[in-house]
Amino acid sequence: MSFAQPKTIIDEGDTVILYLTITNVYAIEAIPQIKNKKGEMVENVFQTNFGALKVKDIIGVQYGSKVELSKGWAHVLQPNPELWTQTLPHRTQILYTPDISMILHQLEIKPGSIVIESGTGSGSLSHYFLRAIRPHGYLYTFDFHEERAQKAQDEFNAHGLGEYVKVTHRDVCENGFGDELNGTADAVFLDLPAPQLAIPHALKALKNQGGRICSFSPCIEQSSRVCEALEQNGFVDIVNIEILQVEDIVKTKNIPVMDLEFVKHKKTAFDKDTKTPKDTKKYITSSAPNTTTGHTGYLTVAEFPPLFAR
Ligand SMILES: C[S@@+](CC[C@H](N)C(=O)[O-])C[C@H]1O[C@@H](n2cnc3c(N)ncnc32)[C@H](O)[C@@H]1O
Repeated sequence: MSFAQPKTIIDEGDTVILYLTITNVYAIEAIPQIKNKKGEMVENVFQTNFGALKVKDIIGVQYGSKVELSKGWAHVLQPNPELWTQTLPHRTQILYTPDISMILHQLEIKPGSIVIESGTGSGSLSHYFLRAIRPHGYLYTFDFHEERAQKAQDEFNAHGLGEYVKVTHRDVCENGFGDELNGTADAVFLDLPAPQLAIPHALKALKNQGGRICSFSPCIEQSSRVCEALEQNGFVDIVNIEILQVEDIVKTKNIPVMDLEFVKHKKTAFDKDTKTPKDTKKYITSSAPNTTTGHTGYLTVAEFPPLFAR
């Protein structure tokens, strides 16, 4: 239940983040016993790189505490969307925090926003929408994979978020978002293989005062189809964004020391024979990588103008 509000103590059934290191993070259910393959109830023991955790030992413990593992220790934290994205069970490809932060910004998501999303996928993005729109907003999220839609709804309910979200099992390209949502949405987000087919439906769903749309496309061809469909359907201010996370290379280099006397006499500070710098100093340097591998996709965003401006 701790996604919905801050809590002090871990209760049985909570989703808890077990944080070992920045790259070693797990989400676990605080359940003392689980069923084994034979269907028998056995003690719930969670294995990590630093050894085993008896899950019953964290029930009643304060969030933020350090807990013992058989070969080390970890912190038990409350889940939030960022930690959930790192640890959630993948049922599909998911969106990650750098793209998501731009999506929330571009869609102008705030408390009270009514948001439509498709597909729901693994619910990674949905958790950020839910944090941002509560307590007066609502998320309508759609997926045409029935089991996935059900699993996502169960997860939102288990996380105490059920009253702010409805997952609908539907092909939104074929059948749209439903007449009951016509003119209700502040924002529509699409993460679909053929998002251009859902754009006329998104248009119907947006409020008469206008609204924002964003579509995630892994390749430029898909994003190009989205741009065309957006223009044909009267959207304006179409912008294509790519979020690239660039990690600079940090290393120690021997840098020749500048000798102003040498410069004055147009001589070099290099040894004639060995052709190496005469005097060098060690510096920690940071430089851009030769190639950038951070591509996830393109975010195509646009505005649907208010009724009076169309
Ligand atoms: C890449 S996943 C979405 C991941 C999600 N954004 C996340 O962060 O977890 C795409 C989802 O779209 C669903 N989907 C594909 N085509 C669809 C359609 N026409 N209508 C509804 N859902 C669709 C798939 O079943 C899949 O679950």
